[in-house]
Amino acid sequence: MIDPWASSTVDYDKLVNQFGIKSFSEVLPDIKNPGRLMRRGVIFGHRDFDKINKLINENKDFAVVTGMMPSGQMHIGHKMVVDQLKWYLDNGAKLSLPIADMESYAARGIDFKTARDIAVDEYLTNYIALGLDLTNKNVNVYLQSENELLKDLTFKLSKKTNFNELKAIYGFSPSTNFAHLYAPLVQVGDILLPQIEEYGGPKRVVVPVGVDQDPHIRLTRDIADKFNLELGFIPPSSTYHRFLTGLTGDKMSSSKPKTAIYLNDSPKSAIKKVKSAKTGGRESLEEQKELGGRPDECVIYEMYVYHLIDDDSKLKKIYDSCKDGSLLCGECKACASELMGEFIGDLATKQVDSREIAKNLV
Ligand code: TRP
Ligand code: SF4
Repeated sequence: MIDPWASSTVDYDKLVNQFGIKSFSEVLPDIKNPGRLMRRGVIFGHRDFDKINKLINENKDFAVVTGMMPSGQMHIGHKMVVDQLKWYLDNGAKLSLPIADMESYAARGIDFKTARDIAVDEYLTNYIALGLDLTNKNVNVYLQSENELLKDLTFKLSKKTNFNELKAIYGFSPSTNFAHLYAPLVQVGDILLPQIEEYGGPKRVVVPVGVDQDPHIRLTRDIADKFNLELGFIPPSSTYHRFLTGLTGDKMSSSKPKTAIYLNDSPKSAIKKVKSAKTGGRESLEEQKELGGRPDECVIYEMYVYHLIDDDSKLKKIYDSCKDGSLLCGECKACASELMGEFIGDLATKQVDSREIAKNLV
């Protein structure tokens, strides 16, 4: 079982084999202009993405849904979703972006005002600063708690599931409170919302998420099927990205400052953090020159892959020279920390104007 409210390490191959998630590499050759995270295997799995890709290639309508649960600070790992959303917006999608304040109330005990403030100051501000145009007419940002259409839809959808199904998917027990039982249904509502009449009726939707969210996708697909006759709902497609490894080698987590580079860290602290990150280097310089480094086990290399280097041939050069022992970790870290410092510094200047725009969105 995958628990969406607990973080744990994941075996991506097992997920692809056991849960019916398909390998993304199967659809990659058909994508006309794949994004960086697609090309580099960071997006490793999908359900029914081929159907979305077909619509993209034919210039037809589809929607993307992904939500943000306002709980803590955004870190560099969260940037992955924003990069994907930019790609979808450029490729003709309508974006529906719920702020999951009902979920953060139910699962984390965060009150609605605090959730809104976190959403504006952290999420919306950074989404804009990272280059996603939230004022675009094809983008709809909303708070779950203030969206009446969503709440009506959720109530309706909850008719066709029951405690046993939720228990099987999430491991809920008879002592789980009703708000927590209801939170996944609100997310099902989020994902199906673009298909209601008011938003233009049934259409294909894709949900780009980390695999911890897959239980919600399975539940949504099941409920969409049950409403196919009545409302015409089509089960959503999904894609899954790998988590960014934390600086210490464990998962990057907002609640563990030592693992994460926050988007509002100062450039100085971001640089320091990169310099302290776990590498795939060897015990000694001699050994590294002889055996080469291990980029596949290196947090620094992962930073390049996910975030810091756009140019594929530059990336390959680093990979090769790490492997053959000609690039050493000191030099490599200096380069990564410089790029990270620039990125974080640049973001900080953009955050100022972005915050003003964010305030008026919800
Ligand atoms: N549960 C998601 C999280 O923890 C947030 C979320 C709410 C979401 N609604 C969604 C994600 C719809 C994808 C689609 O981050
Ligand atoms: Fe990582 Fe760079 Fe060291 Fe290779 S040289 S192990 S990529 S830090």
